[in-house]
Amino acid sequence: MIRSLRAAACAAAVALLAVPVAAQQFPSRPLTIVVPFAAGGPTDTVARSVAAAMEKPLGQPVVVENKPGAGGTLGADNVAKAAPDGYRLLVWHIGMSTSPALYRRLPFDPMKDYAHIGLINDVPMTLLVRNTLAVKDLGELVAWARANAGKATLANAGLGAASHLCGLLFQQAIQTEMITVPYKGTAPAITDLIGGQVDVLCDQTTNTTQQIRAGKVRAVALTAPARLSTLPDIPTAAEGGLKGFELGIWHALYAPKATPKPVVDKLVSALQAALANPDVQKRFAELGSVIYPVEQQTPEGLRKHLQAEIDKWGPVIKKAGVYAD
Ligand code: MLT
Repeated sequence: MIRSLRAAACAAAVALLAVPVAAQQFPSRPLTIVVPFAAGGPTDTVARSVAAAMEKPLGQPVVVENKPGAGGTLGADNVAKAAPDGYRLLVWHIGMSTSPALYRRLPFDPMKDYAHIGLINDVPMTLLVRNTLAVKDLGELVAWARANAGKATLANAGLGAASHLCGLLFQQAIQTEMITVPYKGTAPAITDLIGGQVDVLCDQTTNTTQQIRAGKVRAVALTAPARLSTLPDIPTAAEGGLKGFELGIWHALYAPKATPKPVVDKLVSALQAALANPDVQKRFAELGSVIYPVEQQTPEGLRKHLQAEIDKWGPVIKKAGVYAD
């Protein structure tokens, strides 16, 4: 009995020695979460809520760094190539699954170049018009866009952005091309929509709920199967005549691929603690978003979802014949 206990203790000691000391002591300094869009947008909102709620379980500050550009792929690549020590992470969304089809020279592989930590939440999108545009519903927007084909402007956060994907699907659905106006994020994009500099923007409720309620923009459709209790007056796209125009923007947390497993495990449990935080749950619910179940807040849950989304969006984007490079 004593001999087997001693053997077990030795085995545990050897196993512990096999883990680099840094991984055992992780985290011993502040962490950074990279957001690949400008500050103040929907991705930034999700990341800052999660970062703040991860600080207590990790016992370290978690700061957010905005690294916009190339529809989010610049910041994503920065983290893929960061030191695999768990201190530099990425929060990105559906763009991780659409970029392989959009960027023929994508500098990273979404499935191979990351340690996948877990899924975060899913966020519906709202199709918005500037207040000075005389359209009051989706049907009138479609008619106006068709009458102004090649002139109507559609803002987004660059190719690979959720706003780009939504705009692409909208143009396909109405068989009409619009002029795309790219921004470094949908925070600056919605500012220009409010100012009347652009005509249309499709953006996530995490960024649009407040502006819609304040009457600064007009929402003509929600890209969800059913209306939101947080925006009960916004009809779904199907109610407005565009059946099948549904799009949910999922977000997830990533680390560089060679991050040691003990570090990944600590990040997974910190993410799960953050998403179980009542303040985070309340804020995400108020903004119309749904947190994934805890079994998907895991490396396996994220990898499975990401592969399915890559398989789903690849053909859609190839059919649209849209490339970013
Ligand atoms: C997008 O993909 O459109 C982004 O969510 C925009 C942003 O977060 O700024």
